[in-house]
Amino acid sequence: MTDSHPIVGWEKESPVPENYQFNDYLNVRNGRLFMEDLDLFNLFVDDGPGQVFEQSLPSPLEIVYLPIIGYRIKQMQQFFAEVIDEVGYDGRFFYTYASKANAAEEVIRTTLSSGAHHEMSSTVDVDIARIMIRRGLLTPDKYIICNGFKPSDGSYASNILQLRAIHEKIVPVVEDLSELPSLIESGLSFDVGLRLKTYGHYTTLEGIEAANSRFGLAIEDLWKAADYIAAAPNLNLTLFHAMVGSQILNEADFVAWLKPGIETYARLRQRHPSLHIFDFGGGMPAPMTLNFEFDYHQFIRLLLTTLQEVCGRYNVPVPDVMGEFGRYTTSEHGAHLFKIIAAKDNNSKLPWYIIDGSIMSSFPDSWALQEHFIVLPLNHLDKPFQQVQLGGITCDSDDVYPPKTSHSPLYLPVETDNLHIGFFSIGAYQEMLGGVGGSKHCVVPEAYELIVEWGEHGRYLFHLLTGQSGADVLSNLGYQIEP
Ligand SMILES: Cc1ncc(COP(=O)(O)O)c(C=O)c1O
Repeated sequence: MTDSHPIVGWEKESPVPENYQFNDYLNVRNGRLFMEDLDLFNLFVDDGPGQVFEQSLPSPLEIVYLPIIGYRIKQMQQFFAEVIDEVGYDGRFFYTYASKANAAEEVIRTTLSSGAHHEMSSTVDVDIARIMIRRGLLTPDKYIICNGFKPSDGSYASNILQLRAIHEKIVPVVEDLSELPSLIESGLSFDVGLRLKTYGHYTTLEGIEAANSRFGLAIEDLWKAADYIAAAPNLNLTLFHAMVGSQILNEADFVAWLKPGIETYARLRQRHPSLHIFDFGGGMPAPMTLNFEFDYHQFIRLLLTTLQEVCGRYNVPVPDVMGEFGRYTTSEHGAHLFKIIAAKDNNSKLPWYIIDGSIMSSFPDSWALQEHFIVLPLNHLDKPFQQVQLGGITCDSDDVYPPKTSHSPLYLPVETDNLHIGFFSIGAYQEMLGGVGGSKHCVVPEAYELIVEWGEHGRYLFHLLTGQSGADVLSNLGYQIEP
């Protein structure tokens, strides 16, 4: 970060200049905010130029802007290709989408058609993969990496065995010794992975050993598991998994924390020559604020040269490299638009702007983890701004933004007449944590959703998903609705 606080929006009282670019997809034209070429405010007006829908769309509205997913996947593949070339790395790169970040159909369809391999963590994920295989989107060349706990007698383990019948490149990643019997006894041939207990900020194997983490195998169990796999005629040890955290913002720290895992990989590779993939898991950061800084090239350079150095020392070939990109893939494709329905002073130090939805149930990380997201007006950008605080429509005192402990100022236009705003970079985890369908805090109905894709001749294709009605919410909660 260049600043001492996360920059979440426009931090001045003066209007935003015409053609201002907030980042590579948010820009200002005629006092309105555009997502690439999509005029967001236009979605809420009935008779503007460039009107796409016959009627204005209801607020609040979720935007699912699929093109950004493809851009990010291609961008990371290109970064790896460039650095592989630069440092003369003798291995391949596999971009894998960590589906837990957002498992919506349109997201998975887009990651797969943009060339990503697939990572999953539960039994319903297996059903999703099966659907995608049947649709011809999860093609035979794609890896399916099965993370998460999969006890031998559980539905996830048996579902993975069934999936093997229709897809060869499935790699169950063993988290615990109890996961091995079902794989061994199945008699089905499987490439398997082993996950080392690396979660956390440790630069030594001793640190990892002592870490309080439920993920992965302690080092002794890892060696045992490798021997069991080597002894099983149907299993082939292919992948080594070492994940150290999420949204890691320092390139050197990221690689320093991976290094004990890299050393372990090299030692394991000496004994098990079938091993050829080093999977660093998740953690790749995504821009969720406007002063985000992370040098992806530098991270890749440090990672690949460390792999070269360590593997050279142990006299083993460098591995292919896999990353499981959750937040990085999906954070920026999601936006959630609201209308300011009231502005009140209440003798507070900053005016309250009240939105027509809930901040805390739409973006649970904003109150649970004090996470920051970008917030910008969709109109009136050419007018003066003032510092404000946002309140959700619920009666919950935590339903506010910026987060309570934040030092980030939030500026929005002074003019609140028909003011609409957007939260941006909310596409990873927020919807899944808040739940899709069901009933939410203070029985606030779920918003409509607009899925945006590029169609032919540079025109957008839209697909509108209906939000919840009051009756939907009531029926979810068990109320019989009188006709
Ligand atoms: C095993 C595994 N892989 C990948 C991810 C994705 O992480 P991120 O969203 O930081 O990319 C997670 C997230 O929890 C995870 O547990």
